[in-house]
Amino acid sequence: MENLRVLILAAGKSTRMKSKYAKVLHRVGGRTIVEHVLRGARPLSADVWVVVGHTADKVKTLISEVKFVDQKEQLGTGHAVMAAREQFAGYTGDVLVLPGDVPLINAATLRTFVKFHRDGGYRASVLTADADNPYGYGRIVRRNDNEVDSIVEHRDATPEILSIPEINSGIYVFNAVALFESLTRIRNNNAQREYYLTDVIGVLVNQREKVGAFKVSSIEEILGINTRQELGVVDRLMRRRKCEQLMTDGVTIIDPESTFIDADVQIGADSIIYPSVQIYGQTVIGVDVTIRSFNRMSNMKIGDRTTVLEGCVLDDSTVGEDVSLGPFSRLRPESVIGDKVKIGNFVELKKSTVGAATKAQHLAYLGDATIGKDVNIGAGVITCNYDGSKKHPTVIEDGAFVGTDSQLIAPVRIGKDAYVGAGSSITEDVPAESLAIARGRQVNKEGWVKQRKKK
Ligand code: UD1
Ligand code: CA
Repeated sequence: MENLRVLILAAGKSTRMKSKYAKVLHRVGGRTIVEHVLRGARPLSADVWVVVGHTADKVKTLISEVKFVDQKEQLGTGHAVMAAREQFAGYTGDVLVLPGDVPLINAATLRTFVKFHRDGGYRASVLTADADNPYGYGRIVRRNDNEVDSIVEHRDATPEILSIPEINSGIYVFNAVALFESLTRIRNNNAQREYYLTDVIGVLVNQREKVGAFKVSSIEEILGINTRQELGVVDRLMRRRKCEQLMTDGVTIIDPESTFIDADVQIGADSIIYPSVQIYGQTVIGVDVTIRSFNRMSNMKIGDRTTVLEGCVLDDSTVGEDVSLGPFSRLRPESVIGDKVKIGNFVELKKSTVGAATKAQHLAYLGDATIGKDVNIGAGVITCNYDGSKKHPTVIEDGAFVGTDSQLIAPVRIGKDAYVGAGSSITEDVPAESLAIARGRQVNKEGWVKQRKKK
């Protein structure tokens, strides 16, 4: 929108969260609270400013493509806006002010709100909603259907004002000149000894300026997060929405209540998600995929028709089509699993590539390994990739058969179609199409037990 600058207030300490981190850094629905607010506001204007203070460095490294305002001491929401005064000098357009703790706000509502403000010719406008439980919020004292008289903070309110259900969302549009002029007139003579941004409304009304109130039909999207309980409520709401969207798009989710899926996750139609599954980050899952219970994955790519059996932990890796993973498999970052592969019980992979139709079905560790297609990895095979100071690669070429309980001491290469006898400790490369056996020869001592008994 033309002539619109966004100002997000994110400097506050999380006193009520009892946290050492700024409140806006806490996560809901897989993202920090402030990132959600940015997502809601950004479509309206590229000119976005964020007021930072408490753990400012952390907030600054988290978000980009915004300009920062430093509020050294946190003396209230009015004081926070005042911190931007010098940087905003000369700007005469509209300012959309948002608290950094309203993660459910969306661009469509904000756009309608700014339009309401402009069409009504107001100097300032407040976004409001009726609350079933308005506890803690500032209350809107109305002048008429569209206009506000003042905003009174919960802690400063009389019983009569506390009975007003209409609350202040903390989201406003101001004419910049009017905003900074009236901010010079507010005082901190209130219950919290803070400079309240809400007092600007009273100042403007006293100057006979028109202040608009735009009420949204549901309080949900303006819920503010002040406590861990509220964090839980919003997180649950976001998760429920995500599950509902996926179900609408054709995914079966057997128990949405116990399913945690981050906002950015994509899942194809006819996939089935069993109870107690957590899918995080930028995970992309294909069609007809089955994810059984007790899986936790983040930033995974999983191909069509793959099945992930119970109990896997999967991170930052790619899995092909028609794969069977688990139960109890572990994919550590940068693993790439080809089509039709089987990775079974208690198999761990780290930074390893596995070619199509290869099998590692039981109890193996494959680290820094490049494994070809149609390879058989026996039970208990270990790539010994770490010598105590450096990591070394293992290469297993197409069609090789690595017998049970073998150790491949890297760097080492098993040639195409080669066999490694069970229980071998392989320290040298194995040529293609040959058999390597590297273990002590068996000695049978007949009559040994009888002799021992005689002694
Ligand atoms: C504020 C409003 C209240 C409204 C509610 C909506 C005031 C005085 N009150 O109350 O009317 O109903 O939001 O959610 O504005 N912040 C700073 N610097 C500061 C203080 C706060 O940047 O010095 C930031 C916080 O990080 C937060 C936002 O401003 O993101 C709002 O502050 P918060 O303390 O949560 O205000 P509320 O008490 O919720
Ligand atoms: Ca708040």
